[in-house]
This record gives sequence, C-alpha cells and structure tokens, in this order.
Amino acid sequence: MSSSAALPAQAKAVVFDAYGTLFDVHSAVARHMGAVGPEAARFSEVWRTKQLEYSWVLSLAGRYEPFWSLTEQALDYAFARFPDVDRSVRPLLLEAYRTLDAYPEVLGTLNALRSRGLKTGILSNGDPGMLTAAVESAGLAGSLDAVLSVDAAGIFKTSPRTYKLALTSLSLEADEIAFVSSNRWDIAGATAFGLHTIWVNRLGLPDEYAELAPQAVVTSLDRLV
Ligand code: LAC
Repeated sequence: MSSSAALPAQAKAVVFDAYGTLFDVHSAVARHMGAVGPEAARFSEVWRTKQLEYSWVLSLAGRYEPFWSLTEQALDYAFARFPDVDRSVRPLLLEAYRTLDAYPEVLGTLNALRSRGLKTGILSNGDPGMLTAAVESAGLAGSLDAVLSVDAAGIFKTSPRTYKLALTSLSLEADEIAFVSSNRWDIAGATAFGLHTIWVNRLGLPDEYAELAPQAVVTSLDRLV
C-alpha cells in the first residue's frame, strides 16, 4: 500500500471522519493538563473509549442520543473512575471539546484536495452543533463542501445507514468517494459498506479487522496530496 496511490483515479470526493482524524480528541484534556493532574492521559483515554462504547451500545439496542450527550456522559464516567480529578474542570473540558485542535496538516490538505477539483467533506458521529463549532473554531468552514452528521440517520457508525449519507448528500457512487479515518473500526465499517477507504495510522497501531482492510494506509493526512 503506497501512500502516493492512496486516492483512486475515479475519486470525486474525499470524506473524512472528524474526531481523531481531523480533530485531536486528546487536545481538550491537554489544554487543562495542570488542572486534571497526573492521570490526565488515562483520564482522556477513558473519556474517549466510553464515548465510543456508548455509541455502539445504543446503536445495537436501537436507541439514539446526540453524540454531545454521550460525550458528557462519558466525561462523567471518567470523573467517577478518577475521583482525584477535580470536577470543577468539567465545564472547561466540555468547552475545549467543542473547540478541539485540528491536526496541523488538515487545512493545507483540504485546500490541496479542492485545488485538484475534489470535493471535501466530513462524515461524523458528532451532532450538527458539535461539528459546526469544531469546524468554525478550527477555521475549516471555507475548505469543506459538506459537513455530514449521522444525526440525519439516527444511528451511529458503523451502521451502513451512516455511510450512505455521504452518497446521497454528495450525489456520488460509493467507488467515487474516498473515506479517510484514523479509527480502524470506522474504516472497517466504511469498507463493509463499499467506500474506498484510507486509514490514517498516525501512531503506528497494529492492524485489525483483517477481513475489512483499507485500500491504503497513510501516516498523516498530507500523504493524500
Ligand atoms: C467521528 C468519531 C467516530 O467523528 O470519531 O465519527
């Protein structure tokens, strides 16, 4: 899998996962590292892990709540797991989560893709309010053709109904959309649906979901252009 061949010739749009892919989910805790204390890294991991677990459990149970609500519930679980972390930092962490840092290469990559005539978009579990806040605070609004939330499908990834939103919203076929995510489970879902998938493996994590392999693997988003 060569990074230079990551985008297929027939690609008309590149659609990105948001949290973990464009936005650094650990930047919220990192901003308040001093207040969270020595367990900050584990606290942030638990927050993220529980947020995702809740999305899968609700979806399998036929339930749906906006991702922001799951983000708050997961944060409260993290506080319960780490009783030494001062709860007064809660509103600061939530505010930081609405304005997460984008990875440094994001804006340049989006603009380079558009200058090649490709459409760019987001397809995320985030609810529309969260996504608008994150996109605007990172200065990405002018570089994205579509910001799509699974909220329109009323279920979370990896339901096929979520990936279908990209086709219907962009009026494209599955093989015309390259889907990019740093979340290997998300890549598995998008591959099962039939999108051309590109895994951003920034951390050199081991591969998994062998039956649902991405078409390409890159170490950073700028390897797409
Ligand atoms: C998203 C989460 C899964 O943005 O990272 O969809």
